[in-house]
Amino acid sequence: MFDPIKKLKEHLRFASVSTDSQFKEGMAGSQKFLAGLFSEMGLSVEVVDTDMHPIVLAKREGDLNWPHILIYGHYDVQPADPIELWNSDPFEPVERDGRIYARGAADNKGPQMAHIAAVAELLEENPNLPLRISFLFEGEEEIGSPSLLPFLESRKGELSQADLVLLSDTLSPSADQLVVTVGLRGIVVMDVEFTGPNSDLHSGLHGGAVYNPVQALCEVCASLHDSDNRVTVPGFYDGVTEVEEWEREELAQLGSDEEDYRQFVGVKALHSLSGYTAQESVRYLPTLEFNGIGGGYQGGGSKTIVPSKAMTKISCRLVGNQDPKKVGDLVRQAILDRTPEGIVAKIDMGHQGAPYLVVPPGKPNSPDNAPVLLTKAFEAAKVAISEEFPNSALFLREGGSIPIIADIKTTLGLDSVMIGLFLPEDNLHAPNESMNIDVLKKGIRVSKSILRSLAG
Ligand code: BES
Ligand code: MN
Repeated sequence: MFDPIKKLKEHLRFASVSTDSQFKEGMAGSQKFLAGLFSEMGLSVEVVDTDMHPIVLAKREGDLNWPHILIYGHYDVQPADPIELWNSDPFEPVERDGRIYARGAADNKGPQMAHIAAVAELLEENPNLPLRISFLFEGEEEIGSPSLLPFLESRKGELSQADLVLLSDTLSPSADQLVVTVGLRGIVVMDVEFTGPNSDLHSGLHGGAVYNPVQALCEVCASLHDSDNRVTVPGFYDGVTEVEEWEREELAQLGSDEEDYRQFVGVKALHSLSGYTAQESVRYLPTLEFNGIGGGYQGGGSKTIVPSKAMTKISCRLVGNQDPKKVGDLVRQAILDRTPEGIVAKIDMGHQGAPYLVVPPGKPNSPDNAPVLLTKAFEAAKVAISEEFPNSALFLREGGSIPIIADIKTTLGLDSVMIGLFLPEDNLHAPNESMNIDVLKKGIRVSKSILRSLAG
């Protein structure tokens, strides 16, 4: 018998942090763990080397008339820092209050285990299940999936034969209310560095005579939003599309309260663009965020200098038809245009990904030419979720990004059915990340039910 909780704990012991080369061993361990698990399940496993972290492709082949489902997951996790804020070792899973605590428990090792366990159990129950399944697991999602797109392109002929993609790497609002995610925001990131004098200067000798790069950077950063929180970069909102009425209705059913949300994030006041609620803002609007800022002296006490450098990291979330390359160029150009004389700006563009939208069946704007199996999968998800959870499923866009989902649509022509299995209290990307065990167990049954109905 496949034991998903035991397997998940085993997987969580590998510190698979993709962004930091000190964690090579953890990355290799996690990849080997998955490859081993898939071959124990009787699948044929291929580990594809890339410039960074290998892709694991595991297949259950079969009759070409059987439906073919591609299941996506990522085995890399975010860094555990700041470690001192964890109540237990981030890479030694502990079970407490119906949850498993560890880095990656929710993003993405727990939710992906729902689909692995579903397939393992279905194949144990019926070795002749008429379904072809390919698991496509990457180790670079948290760093923008640089190797996966070239891989998809190189294997397009084979992978585009699948009927649809199934995954769980998105949010649901509570353990009683599951969401089928029908949209993801796109993303583009950049590093900005401002240089003033060629070295730190004594501020008594030189202060007042040169442009301080920290001041210049703060001025430019502050100019990028107006007092209404609207991004001031010309053309920034081009490609933002209208939200359908049914989407607003689904969102209204969330019954999310602004005041509860304000308290949850722990701020004195919210700061949405006027006319938008917090829940609408994170799903329907693009953003320009400063992820960090620095420069000059950061140590204890005081230091009287005009610093030589200041820097910030920026990420923009995108929606609708916004083009990440175009938006990145616009923001870059706006910063260059606003950089004062006396300061040299250097801007390095980082990873990017397009927004993704899929319209589920039964909505006014549902495409009439949607593949039969995609429609079937959405319908099966709705039924399965209402059988397992107190509330029926909501079909909502999400504020987060999984850039490869749009790439899969563009290169392979496949749409994705995303079952949200992590919750707001799971602390993704934060200390004390955890996975709700009950949600995981129900998620396994939901996945089994979807796969069973696709098998027909
Ligand atoms: N699982 C998340 C995406 C996500 C987060 C979906 C929250 C829904 C709600 C994913 O692993 C992730 O964190 N992606 C990165 C993208 C990236 C670094 C290119 C993100 O959204 O910041
Ligand atoms: Mn994830």
